Parts: sequence; C-alpha cells; structure tokens
Amino acid sequence: MRVIIEKDYNDLSAWAARYIANQINDFKPTKDKPFVLGLPTGSTPLATYRELIRLYNEKYVSFENVVTFNMDEYVGLDENHPQSYHYFMWSNFFSFVDIKKENVNILNGMASDLDQECKRYEEKIKSYGGIDLFLGGIGVDGHIAFNEPFSSLTSKTRVKSLTKDTIIVNSRFFDNDISKVPSTALTVGVETITSAKTVIVLINGHTKARALHAAVEGPVSQTWTCSALQLHKCAILIADETACDELKVSTYRYFKDIENSNLDPDTLLKK
Ligand code: PGA
Repeated sequence: MRVIIEKDYNDLSAWAARYIANQINDFKPTKDKPFVLGLPTGSTPLATYRELIRLYNEKYVSFENVVTFNMDEYVGLDENHPQSYHYFMWSNFFSFVDIKKENVNILNGMASDLDQECKRYEEKIKSYGGIDLFLGGIGVDGHIAFNEPFSSLTSKTRVKSLTKDTIIVNSRFFDNDISKVPSTALTVGVETITSAKTVIVLINGHTKARALHAAVEGPVSQTWTCSALQLHKCAILIADETACDELKVSTYRYFKDIENSNLDPDTLLKK
C-alpha cells in the first residue's frame, strides 16, 4: 500500500488527476484495447474531475478510448434526477471530455430486476478483462462504494441497504431531509474494487481521519471495508494533512519519508 500525503484537497486532487491521466497515456488505449476506469461520485472527486477536464482541454489526455464503470447508483432515481449518479457524472465530468456515451457504464437503479442488473454489470466488467484503475472515495464509516460496515470483503455487485449514518451524511444533497434519501442502492462489491489492477482512494478532511486510520493501521476487517485494500497489490491512498489526524506519528513519518526519499515530484506523479 502507498499512502500519498498532500497538503490539502487541491493538491490531493491534482496528484490524483495527474496519476490517472498518466496511467491512461502509458496504457496507450485503442478502440480495441480500451483503458477501463472505475469511477466514484460524491464531494471528494469533484476537484479531481475538474483537473482531469483541465488536462483534457490542454490535450494532455483523451478519454476517447476509455471505458468507465461507476461504483454505484441509488435505487429508484431515474437518470435525470439531479441526485442520481448518472446526472452527477454527466454534469460534473463526462459532458466536458471526449468520452463516448456507449463507453459509459452506470448501474440502472430503475431496472425491473435489480439482481439481474447487478449480474449484467459484473459480466460486462469481465468482458473487458476487468478494471484497470478504480478511483474511489471513502465514507466516514470506512465504506468504499456503498459497501457499508459488515459487507462481505468478497462481495460483488449487488443491492445494498444504506446505513442510517450514510443516509444522514447524504441527506445534505436531499434538502437535509433523510426521508428523501433512497434507502437502497446498487453497488459494486468490495471484491469488484479489489479485483481492479490499481485502486486509488481519495481521503480528505478531518471527518475521514478515523477511516484512514482503519484503512492503513487497523486490522483487515469487515467492520471497516476500506481495510480490504491492505490485501491489494497496488492500492494507493491519497490523503490530505487533516485526514492524517488519527495516524500514529511513526506511520505518518514513514509514508512522508518513503514518498519523499528518492523520487522527484514528476517521477512521483508518474508512478
Ligand atoms: P464524499 O463521499 O466524497 O461525499 O465524502 C464519499 C463516500 O461516501 O464514499
């Protein structure tokens, strides 16, 4: 596991965007061999998306041969609902880059057979040979995608009930009215995420400090599903300083030192 510690949210987002763009460029995707990118919604990735749009406008990166799979979607919100993740992705990212509509995959929370929809999604990911890079955020309770505490660490895409905590946190997008927040969602599983070749997770702010501690220093446990990343061969957590508030000083120093030791910033960004 790598833990990249950046000064603040902007620097963390710039690092993530540059890393993603470099991964796409190094891959040299084509129509027949696209780069497969897993994507999140939420407040955290917004600046990363803005930075990716900027890199696209600078012609540093293209999404023409990128296929995306989003992590999750609420059950019962159609794609034009302003709080649906379909709407979020098009209004914050996809509309501003050269991605092809047919290359965008987002779970359909309005499907008549939700279990079948989840199965179809897993099969589609498999048909591309898996996900090359999964970008994620993290919940205050350590969830990755909507894999709430006590989700199986070997879970695949499925229907999940949201915890009270998550409903309360997400009610900020629903007029602070918890009754308006859908109580279920479709979500990729923990194993869907950890099956990706690379996983990068963005963690910013003091409210996420306990989750970062659990992900890095805690035991691997279904209590904090983010801890499953400890078993991944290429997991990169990108945190800002305040998210590190619960790390041991020695852990914090270890990651600061190792990332600073012998690599110049551009090499670091490329790694
Ligand atoms: P946030 O959500 O980015 O809005 O904090 C992250 C998450 O719940 O996974």
